[in-house]
Amino acid sequence: MSYFHSDILILGSGVAGLTTAILTAKALPNKKIFIVTKAEKSESNTKYAQGGIAAVWDKLDSFEDHINDTIVAGDFINDPEVVKMVIEDAPDCMKQLIEWGADFDHNNKGDFDLGKEGGHSTHRILHHKDITGFEIEKTLLEQVNSLQNISLLPFHFAIDLITDHHIKNKFVSEDDINCYGAYILNEKTNKIETFLAAKTVLATGGTGQVYASTTNPKVATGDGVAMAYRAKAKLDEMEFVQFHPTALFEPGESPAFLISEAVRGFGAFLRNKEGKRFMLDVDKRAELAPRDIVARAIDNELNISGERNVYLDCTHLDYDAFINHFPNINDKCLSKGIDIRRDFIPVIPASHYLCGGVSVNKKGQSSIDNLFACGECSRTGLHGANRLASNSLLEALVYAKNIAQEIIDQKSSLKPVDKDIPEWDEEGTIIPEELVLISHNKKTVQNIMSDLVAIVRTDDRLKMALDHLNYIYQDTEKLYLKSKLSPQLCELRNLNAIAYLIVIQSLVRKENKGAFYNLDNL
Ligand code: SIN
Repeated sequence: MSYFHSDILILGSGVAGLTTAILTAKALPNKKIFIVTKAEKSESNTKYAQGGIAAVWDKLDSFEDHINDTIVAGDFINDPEVVKMVIEDAPDCMKQLIEWGADFDHNNKGDFDLGKEGGHSTHRILHHKDITGFEIEKTLLEQVNSLQNISLLPFHFAIDLITDHHIKNKFVSEDDINCYGAYILNEKTNKIETFLAAKTVLATGGTGQVYASTTNPKVATGDGVAMAYRAKAKLDEMEFVQFHPTALFEPGESPAFLISEAVRGFGAFLRNKEGKRFMLDVDKRAELAPRDIVARAIDNELNISGERNVYLDCTHLDYDAFINHFPNINDKCLSKGIDIRRDFIPVIPASHYLCGGVSVNKKGQSSIDNLFACGECSRTGLHGANRLASNSLLEALVYAKNIAQEIIDQKSSLKPVDKDIPEWDEEGTIIPEELVLISHNKKTVQNIMSDLVAIVRTDDRLKMALDHLNYIYQDTEKLYLKSKLSPQLCELRNLNAIAYLIVIQSLVRKENKGAFYNLDNL
């Protein structure tokens, strides 16, 4: 019998999962916490975040301005109470991260060197060079390693949440579902283990890999959102997929290398093939308009010109200052033969962030009892229809704090699960021989999404996407029912579910907002 018991089970090891674990572990030293993650300990969207974390530090800045920028970028459908809470909590969360050892860049006066990105009315982004996510992930892993009551298990793939649906002969009412943990595939033994916990936290990150071109790492396959969907949790705003305007143009490369928005904040210009700064005609904020506007302008530029990319011009910038701030981006460009002193950087938009996801309240609670969601897999109401740059790590930090507080407040309910939960039933399944079917279907889902459900949508394209996805769904389910499960097969199933949810919610939305743009709604 492979049952594993803990008080808290956290799925995912990015900023959301690690911060939740650290705060609960410190406050409840006698409680046991498992963090499971499907790859290496540090592999997450967090690790690749370049830009930074937005927070009000400067005397000339104010909460009101950060709140206003967030709501303008979100096209006014953000939840105003959530925006206020997150932005007002930001400085304290940052102070804690700094106390734990995170190092953010300073200027020569000894103040934080605050960056600026699209949609921000002032400089307010704390960063560590152009590898802020790496610095944060490293800091959090050091904290986790120092805490005896946390076990971090790499190469453990969460397959499904365990809910009342798994209890034999139990009638389940749709608005009274409990979560008891998750079935997890141990990738070293290939056994599916039953992890039972009083509280489960989804911190599984993003869904970018549902598109052929994305800035997200290979692990960003929307596993948490798909599991929550199968468990019948409430999900919202899946149609708001944010495309980052400036991924390095390298056809076929996945993930696409990100040229941080902070580079435009540093003064870089976007130009078309003729060398024209086309953003000047689109928005008075030009290159620093919110991402949805810039990404759509590039898409339009490419449609008109028939070109495959536009350019980022850094040739007028102070090179020494540039390499000090963006050493990683400079190295990457040099490795591709691009010398930013002379050459323009070829860029295109790529899928970057899901603003929607598992609906949660201000305490991070989902519609399923004892199930929380934190970070990109959640939909809190902070981002509205389009996330403001560098607000995502911030959201994860604030909600991790709130979830930890809620679990601490409920500590008397941290009791072992006493339900009769069956083990995963693998009877009659076989090891699939045709792995090519899985990789073919994955690529097909990604291409359908990139071709038909990208920056600009139409009803016809969405309906066509739905038909194609339905075919892949049937095929994948057949394989799923007869096969021994592998991470590849589960990821395909999850990506298909995410694609379906994006398409369905896109068809339902009849008003264009933020990152969502359907020509039939004009
Ligand atoms: C970037 O560095 O451009 C990405 C930052 C973000 O997604 O907020």
